[in-house]
Amino acid sequence: MQLPKSFAIRLPQSWLNILRPQQMLVLLLTLMISIQGYGQTQAQPGPSGSNNPMANTWFDPSKLVETGVYYYPEAWPKNQWSRDIQNIAKLGFEYIHISEFAWSTMEPTEGTYRLGWIDTVLNIAAQNKLKVILCTPTPTPPVWLSRNYPDILMVNGAGQTINHQGRTHGSWSSKRFEQYVRTITTKLGERFGKHPAVWGWQLDNEPSHYSRSDYSPNAQQHFRQWLRAKYGTIAKLNEAWGASFWSNTYNNFDQIPCPNGEENTAANPHQVLDYRRFSANACADFLRMQQQTLRQYISPRQFVTTNFMHWHSPVDPWRNQDLDAVTYTMYPVWGGDADSVNSHSFRLGSIGNISWANDYYRSINGLTGVMELQPGQVNWGKYNPQPMPGAVRMWLWNAYSGGLKLICSYRYRQPRFGNELYHNGMVGPDGVTPLPGGLEFSQFMREIKQLRQQPNLKAAPPAAYTARKAAILWSPDNHWIQECQGGTKQWPGNFAHQFRYYNILKSFTAPVDYTDTLRDWSACPFLIVPSFQLMSHQTAAKLKAYAENGGQVVISARTAQMDNRGHLWEGPWAQPILDLIGAKAIPFFDHLPAEAIQAGSLKVKDDSKTYQWSTWGDIIDPKPETEVWATYQDQFYAGRPAVTHHKVGKGGITYIGVHSKTKDFEAAILQKVYQLCKVEVQQVPNELRIDWRDGHWVACNYGTRSVQLPVPTSTKFLIGQRTLKPTEVAVWQ
Ligand code: GAL
Repeated sequence: MQLPKSFAIRLPQSWLNILRPQQMLVLLLTLMISIQGYGQTQAQPGPSGSNNPMANTWFDPSKLVETGVYYYPEAWPKNQWSRDIQNIAKLGFEYIHISEFAWSTMEPTEGTYRLGWIDTVLNIAAQNKLKVILCTPTPTPPVWLSRNYPDILMVNGAGQTINHQGRTHGSWSSKRFEQYVRTITTKLGERFGKHPAVWGWQLDNEPSHYSRSDYSPNAQQHFRQWLRAKYGTIAKLNEAWGASFWSNTYNNFDQIPCPNGEENTAANPHQVLDYRRFSANACADFLRMQQQTLRQYISPRQFVTTNFMHWHSPVDPWRNQDLDAVTYTMYPVWGGDADSVNSHSFRLGSIGNISWANDYYRSINGLTGVMELQPGQVNWGKYNPQPMPGAVRMWLWNAYSGGLKLICSYRYRQPRFGNELYHNGMVGPDGVTPLPGGLEFSQFMREIKQLRQQPNLKAAPPAAYTARKAAILWSPDNHWIQECQGGTKQWPGNFAHQFRYYNILKSFTAPVDYTDTLRDWSACPFLIVPSFQLMSHQTAAKLKAYAENGGQVVISARTAQMDNRGHLWEGPWAQPILDLIGAKAIPFFDHLPAEAIQAGSLKVKDDSKTYQWSTWGDIIDPKPETEVWATYQDQFYAGRPAVTHHKVGKGGITYIGVHSKTKDFEAAILQKVYQLCKVEVQQVPNELRIDWRDGHWVACNYGTRSVQLPVPTSTKFLIGQRTLKPTEVAVWQ
């Protein structure tokens, strides 16, 4: 069993008295989703599609993808709204996105609602055949709320109340804030829930508190309640937290602090893990509360989503897989990217970012989109370069190729006041002149309209492509535990480690899904288990069954070292997977100095190349029947296995004990796994990405040089050509 992810929903007695059996059933299902965290109770989406019966009502399949833009009527004179919205339509957009920061315009003083302006905007949009995504304004509580009820505000680690100004200062743990959020959400739902121009709803904005943790008295109390519900007794909590270490033992729940690096840098890692889970639940519950409030009023034809930030610990988008769609926000170029692959990456962004977000968010429930795709230059980076001409259009196509249902951009007009003056829009500060990014959006939208006319959109994906399909096993717990139990400061973090495997798979032109421990993996022939540090015996047994049925599992370093509390096993190292990987033991692991003249060397069997490593190396003692695929070449364990392969039933399990210097070593091992299964990969250069969607291949060149696409010379291109220059895109059947 997974540890329960949430215990936060409790039914008041008064509800129990008034609910009818069907309503009880719905509530019970909701409660189960919240307790399990991941929707065991809902139909599992096909990895790349949705089982939601409303999917085609919300997102017309013949449109492929619909593109829109953020507009802030509250910021512009009323007499410009019609002109602006008309121009938005002329550029080719199909919807606008409004109101996520407009609470003070909607409710200027407590209980005074001014919503008529939204009616006006909806009507202008409808006249211009634009749909609208309407947002709940909850990231920006108005000043009367902060001043009259300061207990709604978050408190930072230094004990300072986050004052009014800026955004996202309302605490997810404040019952009072919740009450005001419910009220404004209800008002919006009641008034606009049946409006024909409203296509869907966005809850809040980038729910994340932008990495701030909440130490308010409300959060403190909420955390203790959550722990009480989870552990029942303080003795159980002390045991789970290994509290006898350094005399951490608590006498009762009221003594427990939210772990706070400002107060004590050596917090108990098990407590930190629980605090991360608690914070992710608090966010998920805050969103679910808004979703359920809206659903009481709005038409089933309107969808509900939110826009999570790319990857942002400690929020966990999978906890909200019961949203109708789960979307993300994406800014590829902002003057700093650790994963840059060439001298132009600072203008193009890292090749993996959009693809990764496509695959990760699509996997949550099959319906996703990018709610903010960078329109041009931004203002908030270390430095803010111009994107390479053509890059915005390339990002759009890259986003499209991942199966997205909607693409939207922040924002239409470059602002003339406020915090983001140096941030491009589709048009400049004059409100009418398109900026380069605006023109590239316009070009993309024309091209999509052309694509919609193609006859073969329903074609099945090519068999050679689906044969390569891989899933990556995901749990945020592994990120959270490795943040506080990294084992070495050189460890790149669980995100970067799994991202390496992701990029290797994409360089094979393989379709990739993300999955969790509860889902059925059988649709994917390959399953990557990247550094899955917290693993139960049940998950290990499920991996075994998957391999027995023919699946190929690749497990990487550090997997299964701990139970779900973050305790090492009282037994052999990595106990749950030893049998699975065909090892007698993993007797030890090693780290090397990264700067050493001679880093550690590795050799792959039947390969003359030498690979380097320093970050992490598990030394494996294989059983006699287990194949050794790579060995350490030096140190006192020279010749001992770094990678093994174990045949299990009709499939197999490969264990890669190393995080190497570059991704080439891991890529060579994955190649061997595919070869073993006689599945041919289509290796493309690091800077080229090729995906398949709706009857077409889409290629994007993130590099600095021209590349030849691996297609016959006779290929007929709908867009682009066989030789692809940097930032160019090709689309063909
Ligand atoms: C996003 C945010 C937007 C805007 C944008 C600027 O992260 O959701 O509201 O601030 O950044 O790039």
